[in-house]
Amino acid sequence: MGASKQVRARAERLRQELEHHNRRYYVLDDPEIDDAAYDRLFRELVELEEEHEELKSPDSPTQRVGAAPLPEFAEVRHRAPMLSLANAFEEDEVRAFDKRVRDALGVESVEYAAEPKFDGLAISLSYRKGVFVQGATRGDGATGEDVTPNLRTVRAIPLRLPKGHDTDDLEVRGEVLFYKADFEKLNARQREAEEKVFANPRNAAAGSLRLLDSSITARRPLRFFAYGVGIAANSRWKSHSEMLDRLSGMGFPVARERSVARGVDELLEFYGGIQRKREKLPYAIDGVVYKVNRLDWQEKLGFVSRAPRFAIAHKYPAEEQTTEVLKIEVQVGRTGVLTPVARLKPVEVGGVTVTNATLHTEDELRRKDVWAGDLVIVRRAGDVIPEVVGVHKQGPRRSDERFVMPDQCPVCQSPVVRLPGEAATRCTGGLYCRAQRKQAILHFVGRRAMDIEGVGEKLVEQLVDRDLIESPADLYRLEKETLAGLERMAEKSAQNVVDSIQRSRSMDLARFVFAMGIPGVGEEVARILARHFGSLRALLGADWPALAAQKETLRRENAKRKRKGEAPVEVPLEGIGPEIMESLDKFVHETHNRKVIASLVDPERGVAVRDAAMAAAPLAGKTFVLTGTLAGMSRDEARALIEAQGHKVTGSVSKNTDYVVAGAEAGSKLEQARSLGIAVIDEDGLLQLLGKR
Ligand code: IVH
Repeated sequence: MGASKQVRARAERLRQELEHHNRRYYVLDDPEIDDAAYDRLFRELVELEEEHEELKSPDSPTQRVGAAPLPEFAEVRHRAPMLSLANAFEEDEVRAFDKRVRDALGVESVEYAAEPKFDGLAISLSYRKGVFVQGATRGDGATGEDVTPNLRTVRAIPLRLPKGHDTDDLEVRGEVLFYKADFEKLNARQREAEEKVFANPRNAAAGSLRLLDSSITARRPLRFFAYGVGIAANSRWKSHSEMLDRLSGMGFPVARERSVARGVDELLEFYGGIQRKREKLPYAIDGVVYKVNRLDWQEKLGFVSRAPRFAIAHKYPAEEQTTEVLKIEVQVGRTGVLTPVARLKPVEVGGVTVTNATLHTEDELRRKDVWAGDLVIVRRAGDVIPEVVGVHKQGPRRSDERFVMPDQCPVCQSPVVRLPGEAATRCTGGLYCRAQRKQAILHFVGRRAMDIEGVGEKLVEQLVDRDLIESPADLYRLEKETLAGLERMAEKSAQNVVDSIQRSRSMDLARFVFAMGIPGVGEEVARILARHFGSLRALLGADWPALAAQKETLRRENAKRKRKGEAPVEVPLEGIGPEIMESLDKFVHETHNRKVIASLVDPERGVAVRDAAMAAAPLAGKTFVLTGTLAGMSRDEARALIEAQGHKVTGSVSKNTDYVVAGAEAGSKLEQARSLGIAVIDEDGLLQLLGKR
């Protein structure tokens, strides 16, 4: 049975609404309805079309779900060739371009349309009588591939153009791409499904567009931006900028960041402005494009070989480059973490020559499946360490050349471990490992640690490799003569080094603690520790397991108090979690570390660590109850200690009691404390709280 007039009208209305919402979303970036509401309209149309076969049409938004897989792509001959652009990298080249244009036109100054150069894939979209009929890749510029079913799934591409435009025969050109955020999500999804992950948004777009099964493309959130037309029969626009405005009016997304500029200075201003925004743009760009704005002038200028004379791409330094992996090595960091590093054939990335790039961890390396001999994509964005993004082309791989994480430290041959649940593999050599030693010493002398000037990487290398120093403590025993014998060390600089080492001999506690390089102890943690313990002695004597247990008790206590709406008790060492405490415990009990520290603070030839000006009293005005027998002091001594810090000691437990200090054979008071949910601590805990340990 044919569809009634009302059903037809409803289907038509739904199509218009869906296209309207697509436009709000993809062109105006200003949706009116949420995804769920869109889906409801969409499903209604699907149902109508399923009930009434004859309502189906290729320009319906329901056709965006993909079609039956193709055996292969058909070829499409472009009616007008799809050209490339000449590139400019330097300001001079832009000036030369402008001069050529002005000379050829015989004019003083030229107006340009300036826009981003999208880093995606060029495509052409053909419309007949306002309906999308064919989409093709650029291919070699003359012939491309027919990817119509795939492009139909791209919601940013209008399937039907609004009436009132002359769109009988229109071929729009532009770029298909992934938004950076969508790309990240796609890769996360791919990784989870153990499917191929893509090196960058561009590769992902290329891969998604060239899928023979368009129902897979439909699940990839591709975007599209228009930047020109191939054929426009009877067009009425006179300039490029006017054309982009019209395309936008027809429902094609065009770059928001487009502008009209007069003369080179305004072009360069545009270039700089977009460069500053580059990171924040939702899509990747590799430059900007300047086009002579007047179309009659474009025509007059014409083409040279395969590029227009009227346009040029002004590129930004590439953040990604392709180069060869010469070998993969393992580097050992300060805390013993083994990092696989790719040694590269030198390549310029973002204006800097890169010879090494990190592969992060063994798992990352496996996931990216990088081998020596591969051509890889290397990225260096902003100030970040260069990294291998992925494999561009596999090299001649031989199974015996597959990277394996060594089971011994490549520097000190100590066994390495990878703890369950940890991504990092670590050398167990500690400060016996030369690599860790070097890094530890470099950390120790760092500006924010002991601030010893003149001791850099090269010097530390030599000192450690020649066994002149084993630990930071040995720095204080270095003689000028020894230093002067080293490479690149004149007498004067040797003296300067000795002087700056001497200057560091008086140091405040927080910096010294940071300088020790305890895993997990950064500057902030070091400051908290210094404030809490007040002296190096107190810090080294801390009973970390007891402190951790006590913190946990107080934390639970606070959770309880919170439920009851009561004020929380103060928790000492706020900001220092169980992992850091464990690390501190391990560090201070390591014999080697204790030796190094003892030798560092040797009063004759070492550092005088200044106690923290005032160890902030961890608590004030609290109420304590003592019960049971304390091992190391009498009750009176304990009371005196507590009162000396401004707290009160009372004889009976009530809800106003903050802490019950329980010794051996504590009786009813302990029970009372438990039933009232009051914090119970032992003698050690008391000393900790009072900052006496
Ligand atoms: S205009 C006749 N504008 O760059 C001029 N191209 O090197 C044809 N591209 O394959 C291109 N953004 O895919 C133009 N705003 C933009 C562009 C752009 C990216 C790509 C395009 C083309 C390549 C030319």
